[in-house]
Amino acid sequence: MFDNIELNDIDIFDKKGEELPELILDSINDAICVVDINCITKYWNKAAEKLYNIDKEKIINRHIKEFFPNSLLPRIIRERKAYDNIYNSPREGCYNVISASPLYMNGRLIGGISLDRDATEFIKISELLVKAQSNLNVLEHEISIINKNRYSFSQILGNNNSFRDSIRLARNISKSNINVLITGESGTGKELFARAIHLESGRNGYFVPINCSAIPNELIESELFGYSPGAFTGALKSGKIGKIELAHNGTLFLDEIGDMPVNMQPKILRVLENGEMTRIGSEKTIKTNIRVITATNKNLSEMVEKGFFRKDLYYRLNSVVIHLPPLRERRDDIPLLINRFIEDYCMEYGINILGIAPQVMEIFRNHRWEGNIRELKNIIERIVVLAKNNNTDIIDMSFLPKDFIGDRIINPYPKQESVYDLNNILDNAEKEAIINVMKNTGNNKSHAAKLLNIPRSTLYFKLKKHNLEE
Ligand SMILES: Nc1ncnc2c1ncn2[C@@H]1O[C@H](COP(=O)(O)OP(=O)(O)O)[C@@H](O)[C@H]1O
Ligand SMILES: [Mg+2]
Repeated sequence: MFDNIELNDIDIFDKKGEELPELILDSINDAICVVDINCITKYWNKAAEKLYNIDKEKIINRHIKEFFPNSLLPRIIRERKAYDNIYNSPREGCYNVISASPLYMNGRLIGGISLDRDATEFIKISELLVKAQSNLNVLEHEISIINKNRYSFSQILGNNNSFRDSIRLARNISKSNINVLITGESGTGKELFARAIHLESGRNGYFVPINCSAIPNELIESELFGYSPGAFTGALKSGKIGKIELAHNGTLFLDEIGDMPVNMQPKILRVLENGEMTRIGSEKTIKTNIRVITATNKNLSEMVEKGFFRKDLYYRLNSVVIHLPPLRERRDDIPLLINRFIEDYCMEYGINILGIAPQVMEIFRNHRWEGNIRELKNIIERIVVLAKNNNTDIIDMSFLPKDFIGDRIINPYPKQESVYDLNNILDNAEKEAIINVMKNTGNNKSHAAKLLNIPRSTLYFKLKKHNLEE
């Protein structure tokens, strides 16, 4: 290792004693200035030349105030006092951190030394950070107002009895710290409930959602727990804060908890039991105060039985279970939802409120709604956009998506019409038969007419009569 070093090179420290201090001063990255007791500059290292763009030859043996009227050094000598880490801006847009102290030799004051560090980048970044932080504060405030309007319990629509029970239960437990499991099919409002519970809880931290089914298994741990700097290759140098820490004093919403990988489950259990977690690659235990709300559209107890989900975790999560019924089990709420969504989207897209034809409402009431409220909401938005483009103000059958007409379940006894009106019953039965045949023949009219045993022209007539033309 020392092959290339000659003995003379090592001796240099003993022999060239006089040049050495200067050599050392020049190799330091901070600007160093030494003045004598009269404030005449005696040392000016390379970093000082670079930082202030003043050559050593120019400044040596000159009074420091000629170059720096505000220099700290005269004061240091006068007061015989050291200063540490003072911020200074010698020129516009240029910032330094200065430390300076008096120099003594054999107890006698002989001058002063200052050490200046360029802090321009640091100060600029700090200024940016302060600006970003204040912008963030403004945005956070606005978002909290928007969230209050959008996610409170008052925004959850529904008059169906069992649905109202779910709302009541959610409201009652929202102020406690109890863990909540929300079950229900996709689109039934699980996230909406979780957000409303968080808002009503009054917890001042964030609502932090994480969808366990949308994140690859290998990444779930780092998303949840974060990692310390340099924890693994590909990790950010600065480390990363995980969702659990982010939810401190707030609510962690674990969506699709049924998809939580089995090896992660004990780690989640630990957080739930004592609020403790560690970042990946770190030994330090972090204490958090979080409320956990979970949601699933799977049958967790069945998963526990089959060994896909830990029993202990399941019991921790389901202290309170809120079940949200699918839309087809609360059809009485469909008109209310439709009318509200039409109002909301008309406002959003800037058009007059649309009327909805009774037949269309009837089809909506009877639709299967496998995507639940999300599906209903999407369809209404699509219809409002179409209506805006077509300049129409009434939603008739022509607005319904094709597959929608084919899929609908026709109720031969519609509520608004007289249940015992035979003409209505026959009419509806005819309509249902035509829809089924059209669907089964892939909309092939001549084939459909044959199956129905009517002339093709009659089929055309009836399609028109029932508003079933494409
Ligand atoms: N009862 C309700 N009243 C108003 N909007 C609702 C209701 N339930 C759900 N929504 C809306 O339907 C969409 C889907 O709800 P979401 O909570 O994401 O469902 P999930 O999490 O169960 O899949 C969201 O836009 C939500 O605002
Ligand atoms: Mg969801």
